[in-house]
Amino acid sequence: MKLEAYAKVNFTLEVLGRRGDGYHELRSVVLPVSLADAIEITEDDEISSDSGYGENDLAVKAARALAASAGVDRGARIHIEKKIPVGGGLGGGSADAAATLVALNEIWRTGLSREELSEIASAVGSDVPALTLGGAVLMEGRGERVSRVESVGVDLVVANPGVECSTATVYSACRSFHREVSPSAAMIDALAKGDLTAIAGSLMNDLERPATSLCPAIGRLSDDIRSLGAKGVLMSGSGSSVFGIFSSQSDAAAAAMSLRKMNYGAWSCRTI
Ligand code: C5P
Repeated sequence: MKLEAYAKVNFTLEVLGRRGDGYHELRSVVLPVSLADAIEITEDDEISSDSGYGENDLAVKAARALAASAGVDRGARIHIEKKIPVGGGLGGGSADAAATLVALNEIWRTGLSREELSEIASAVGSDVPALTLGGAVLMEGRGERVSRVESVGVDLVVANPGVECSTATVYSACRSFHREVSPSAAMIDALAKGDLTAIAGSLMNDLERPATSLCPAIGRLSDDIRSLGAKGVLMSGSGSSVFGIFSSQSDAAAAAMSLRKMNYGAWSCRTI
């Protein structure tokens, strides 16, 4: 079975507090985008992947988690063609894990709903439940509480400065915020209405400031995307990728071309 493993961007990322288990309590509006890895899964005796990540491969972890919780004793060979930059805040590894859960649920005929799959997904990684549920999602807790939200398609450029940001270091440099009114609520409203100006105006990420202090290249990339006419610009997840919102696919494609000439990795894509 062949399928696309969609990357994600965070249109909001609120850090609400630090938990006893070292993770942070979050509220985030997460959207899958058309930038994707290509995955091919075939049934096999053992669970294996040719990604080269060994036991750290989130797709392998996802396959094992599904086999354990559905009580199946079957294997699968997972082939991943990487297009999503690794360690870039775009959920590359999580996307592969989510696609693996969805595919193996069919191949192994485990018959679970997307909601049931996304519960299994929370043991694999914080971003996996959102990508497993599919579509625009409000993600809460550590990432394990997910619910669908309504959204129009938004044209984006996603770009990477070529430096990796350690997720754990960025989180530990972040202070948490208590807000009376959730910025995510305004984003959910803007996405449902398809109001691009309100969507651009509601973009926020509490990890952007600490990540930019640790990695100044993120700030320079953001300025460059802004200078190409983006309606809104934000770092995704814990960085280092940054995305810009554009009014049309052709504007996003032109911006991606300009960014590539500036030696950034850059892709024009659309939210799904
Ligand atoms: O769950 P995942 O492996 O994606 O998380 C990577 C790291 O990001 C964690 O070890 C933690 O430092 C940080 N993190 C966090 N709070 C979250 C999600 C991730 O502190 N909700």
